[in-house]
Amino acid sequence: MKVNTEGFIWKLDYFELSRVFLYEELNSETTVNYSLSNDIFSLEILGDDRNYFDEIVIDKSIFSNNFKNQIKHHIYQLLSKKTGKELPWGILTGIRPLKLIRNMMKDYSHDELIELLKNEYLFSYDSIVLAIDIINRQIDVLKNLNDDTYSVYIDIPFCPSKCNYCSYKTYMPNDELVSAYVDTLIMEIEHFGRLYKTYPETIYIGGGTPSAIPVFQLEKIIDSVNRVFGKSKEFTVEIGRPDTINRELLQMLKSKSVDRISINPQSFNDKTLKAIGRQHSASDIIEKYNLALEYEFDSINMDLIIGLNDESEEDVLYSLKEIKELSPDNLTVHSLAIKKGSALEENNSKVYVDYDKIDKVTKKFALSNGYYPYYLYRQKRIVGNGENIGYCKSGKESIYNILMMEDIGDVLGLGLSSISKFIDRDTKELVRHFNPKDIKYYIDNFSIYVDSKEELIKNKDGN
Ligand SMILES: C[S@@+](CC[C@H](N)C(=O)[O-])C[C@H]1O[C@@H](n2cnc3c(N)ncnc32)[C@H](O)[C@@H]1O
Ligand code: SF4
Repeated sequence: MKVNTEGFIWKLDYFELSRVFLYEELNSETTVNYSLSNDIFSLEILGDDRNYFDEIVIDKSIFSNNFKNQIKHHIYQLLSKKTGKELPWGILTGIRPLKLIRNMMKDYSHDELIELLKNEYLFSYDSIVLAIDIINRQIDVLKNLNDDTYSVYIDIPFCPSKCNYCSYKTYMPNDELVSAYVDTLIMEIEHFGRLYKTYPETIYIGGGTPSAIPVFQLEKIIDSVNRVFGKSKEFTVEIGRPDTINRELLQMLKSKSVDRISINPQSFNDKTLKAIGRQHSASDIIEKYNLALEYEFDSINMDLIIGLNDESEEDVLYSLKEIKELSPDNLTVHSLAIKKGSALEENNSKVYVDYDKIDKVTKKFALSNGYYPYYLYRQKRIVGNGENIGYCKSGKESIYNILMMEDIGDVLGLGLSSISKFIDRDTKELVRHFNPKDIKYYIDNFSIYVDSKEELIKNKDGN
């Protein structure tokens, strides 16, 4: 699909909004033209079976002086009329609706805020209620946070196979590569750990699949983290794939003060697991979850994805029934995103799910089984323009997930492709630093990329 927005900036946002509305009927030949002339905004779709044209008079009365929103609002109206669709997050194409609302809370009264979200952003009533509910809960959870809070994220970019929705760059965990990576990573941990004088609030080891490398290698990394950063309030390690979980791993994690782990079914339907290329069955998940319970971690998270293999409402209800029986402390429900670099995207796969219906049953399930939503984010190319929601049992929020998604506090990212975020001392702006994405470059050029991150840390707020 081509989207032409002559003379407008923010083209990507307009593209994304158009893509969500026209998803089912798009092909690579489709061209969507928008133009604005004498307060008339027009839409033209070419290359479809039939060409389509419509226009609308620009209504400036409802806007907070935001030209981008005006254009998106009118795109929304025209495409909603054409397709009959309404989107839960209205014109929003960004990934952090809660952060947007938090910032707006500083400038608007409660009533003004609701008006703006409803009339300008076109959020559904349910989305507004959900977002404000989560923000209030987060304010409560974070009330004792220090001003110099920071988190540490460590990336382990290994995984022995590729699920069809996965776009993460991962490598086969062969001994030589893992060993060279772990040595460099430990060098990075030790180097940056020295620059911090206080304990991190949270530490998170993710990937890829951290448990895809030998236990003694993961142990070396965790020993280095504990030595350098000391105690944190929360230490999570993702051990998502059940085929990587065993007693030796669980014992090691428990003995090193890891308090949160993630074991991810994605779905409890074996047909789906096979179709998406997971290397495990639903019963493997149940078996490894029960094994992990023996080690009494503070919290176990499970990830589900809505939209896999065109799962029906009944399929999702079956997964939820299994979740109910296992009763993990955290449940994260993702909406499938067709990400660049995934097999789904490369094969031009189309996904057909009744997102609205499934979204409703998932939310209803959470509410009636003692799970409440505590963080929320969105991704580009997400099915149904929906969202990802982290649910938890009372008192089991992952602080890392909230801090990360709301951009609260610094994040020191370590390891391949990791992203660090620091607040600049002078500008008070959030500055991002990107580690290399190629593993060979990461291993061979430590002294080059390490300097630019060190410079940012020295210049960050609080130093
Ligand atoms: C960093 S990923 C990897 C976790 C781990 N390797 C596993 O597969 O269990 C964390 C979670 O993001 C979600 N995820 C990854 N790709 C996704 C996609 N394209 N759409 C929706 N959710 C996705 C999955 O639920 C996954 O468990
Ligand atoms: S197991 Fe996790 S990291 Fe590996 S391919 Fe699947 S989603 Fe990606």
